[in-house]
Amino acid sequence: MRFRANWTTRFGFYFAAIGSAFGLGNLWRFPNVLAENGGGAFVLLYIFLAFLIGVPVIIAELILGKSTQQSILGALRTTLASENNQKIKQMWLGIGKLAVFTSLLVLSYYAVISGWVLHFFVRSLFGLTDPEGFQAAETLATLKKSGGLQIALAGVHILLTVVIVIKGVQNGIEKWVGYLMSIFSILLISLIGKSLSLPASGEALRFLFYPDFSKLTINSLGQALGHVLFTLSIGFGVMVTFGSYMRHDVYLPEAGLRVAALDTGISLLSGLLIVPILLSASAQMGGADVLFQSLPRLFATVKGGNLFGTAFFLCLYLSSLGASIGLLEVIVSNLGDRWGMSRSKAGWLIGGVIFFAAILPALSSSTLSQLRIGGMGLLQILDAVLINWILPVVALGLCLFVAHRVPIQVKEKEFQLSRKFDYKELFGNWLWIIRWLGPVVIVTAIGLQVIGLFVKS
Ligand code: ALA
Repeated sequence: MRFRANWTTRFGFYFAAIGSAFGLGNLWRFPNVLAENGGGAFVLLYIFLAFLIGVPVIIAELILGKSTQQSILGALRTTLASENNQKIKQMWLGIGKLAVFTSLLVLSYYAVISGWVLHFFVRSLFGLTDPEGFQAAETLATLKKSGGLQIALAGVHILLTVVIVIKGVQNGIEKWVGYLMSIFSILLISLIGKSLSLPASGEALRFLFYPDFSKLTINSLGQALGHVLFTLSIGFGVMVTFGSYMRHDVYLPEAGLRVAALDTGISLLSGLLIVPILLSASAQMGGADVLFQSLPRLFATVKGGNLFGTAFFLCLYLSSLGASIGLLEVIVSNLGDRWGMSRSKAGWLIGGVIFFAAILPALSSSTLSQLRIGGMGLLQILDAVLINWILPVVALGLCLFVAHRVPIQVKEKEFQLSRKFDYKELFGNWLWIIRWLGPVVIVTAIGLQVIGLFVKS
């Protein structure tokens, strides 16, 4: 535990956890999966899963970190100290390793998309956008054709993330997330006002909030669950690490609920912002490019649009930086806890590995564009496999681990911190969810996706 530190204030945790949850998942990925799954019914499924499964699993991850004061690998090892069966021990540790490895792979393509955001930010800043916003699609297409530029931009992003993580928890993360969240929320709400005045806003509201369950597919449960886990940063071990830095007086159920509520709220705002623009422009509803193709059109119609564009892409970039910091923190803190590696050595080493891993997704639309499975390029394949399949497996493992291996008194103690509720009932419900309901939902989602591989829905 070379660099274990505590948040200086109770809010330090909230800022860091929210900073890590809030990212490209909310603005880039959510409108995308939403469009693929037909709108309103998927929104309901997403909200339902965020609170029913997401919040209990965040609490489980936080308990694991807070009770052991270690990151995921150390936390699993400490909890398993009395386990003599090596096979069982390795099986549980495998879940932790998978979480850390997933963080690394997700960061590799997350850095590429963050590079796209950086590109749009710089173009808006220097007024290099066309006044109508119509050429945004071309701007992105040109960028995607240039593997070298994408690698360079991803490199800049990785470098910034490494430098901030090396500076340490309190200096690196806590300070700026609060400001960022406030500015971004104001910006989003003012842009939504404009977006909802577009001609297709009625149709957009219907698309977002009228639940037509016939639009769901056999993969929708898995996609909604995967997205909930991704957007709340669950299944990477991020919340275990953050829990390990937590002060003892933080009441975990409330912490989990706040993070989920804020993050879900931001995703819904992003839907309200983006869907009216897409429908008004009769633009394509799905795909990795929707965010970049839709927003410049809106900026072009508002007074001072370039300023809005610059502020928006800067906030979006900073939020993707916050999420990347959380993911890198997982890997760095695990290397420190496990092998006593210094923070800077671990940061540079992993930063280098991520940079090399980012080269493949950065080339997915140029040199490696022939590499396609089921119509998806490498970047989309990585995203789909990691988020829809691997994250649910890790979340399942963590649910079962905390339910069956963490002593009951350790878990109950966290619920006793409540001054408002009857802790026993809440604790009983939470335990039931991570022991039964969560695993059943996760296994069902994975099972349906397996069936979906064989049948066309
Ligand atoms: N939770 C982060 C995001 O949504 C990874 O971008």
